[in-house]
Amino acid sequence: MKNFYQDRNIVITGATSGLGRALALRLHHLGAHVAGVARGAAGLASLRHEAPRALTIQADVSRAEEIYPLAGEIQAKLGDVDILFNVASDLGPVPLRLLADTECEDFERALRTNVLGPHRLTRALLAPMLLRGSGLVVNVSSDAAVNAYPRWGAYGASKAAVDHLSRVLDEELKEAGVRCLSVDPGDMRTPMHFAAVPDADPARLRDPAESAERLLELIARNDFSQVRRIL
Ligand SMILES: NC(=O)c1ccc[n+]([C@@H]2O[C@H](COP(=O)([O-])OP(=O)(O)OC[C@H]3O[C@@H](n4cnc5c(N)ncnc54)[C@H](OP(=O)(O)O)[C@@H]3O)[C@@H](O)[C@H]2O)c1
Repeated sequence: MKNFYQDRNIVITGATSGLGRALALRLHHLGAHVAGVARGAAGLASLRHEAPRALTIQADVSRAEEIYPLAGEIQAKLGDVDILFNVASDLGPVPLRLLADTECEDFERALRTNVLGPHRLTRALLAPMLLRGSGLVVNVSSDAAVNAYPRWGAYGASKAAVDHLSRVLDEELKEAGVRCLSVDPGDMRTPMHFAAVPDADPARLRDPAESAERLLELIARNDFSQVRRIL
């Protein structure tokens, strides 16, 4: 696995917590050139402390006007991107609510963060991948994309959109050498999980470092058939 990621240029949104941070730390350890993106300055400073070679960029992926400056900074400081992990995500209303009680503004924020932001960032970073004939986009989804869990409607609908968007993009791009996958990392011990399920039993949740490790192994093995559900 070490050789596969060595010197690859890899962008991770949501890189300051949970799965995104675990991916950033592991990839940094494996010798990749990592750019970590999140909104909070403190989280980015902490990531730089743990991964001193990593580039950190403060941006909100839900804001259209921040995506092209973000992509420009990535291109200028990291170079052409080999792998983009779209990990940053929004739960919609917290505490979670029935869909009929969900404000459209909360739904819209989930769609902007979970669907349109990843799509916009993918488009902004795609051209060099197509020119080179290689690249990988990994969109992080959820089992809420396929199971109709009550109160998870805004989040689940946004993740279903990500799944389908990933399938279509993969069909459209794979002949050009660029792959797009959506991945369900399973239930993990992270702030997002506890925001959604405050009384969750931590012992039943996976360490995000384990999910990151498994995902990276499957990608390195080119085992995309198993990547969709990594637990
Ligand atoms: N945890 C689970 O059990 C679970 C289960 C299934 C799927 N997932 C999926 O796995 C992924 C990671 O989840 P997690 O639980 O690891 O999340 P997490 O610990 O809550 O971390 C979320 C990360 O995203 C960043 N972020 C949030 N909104 C952002 C925005 N608009 N722009 C840029 N960065 C933003 C956060 O930093 P800032 O707040 O500083 O921006 C943080 O770094 C998500 O896609 C989630 O849907 C999680």
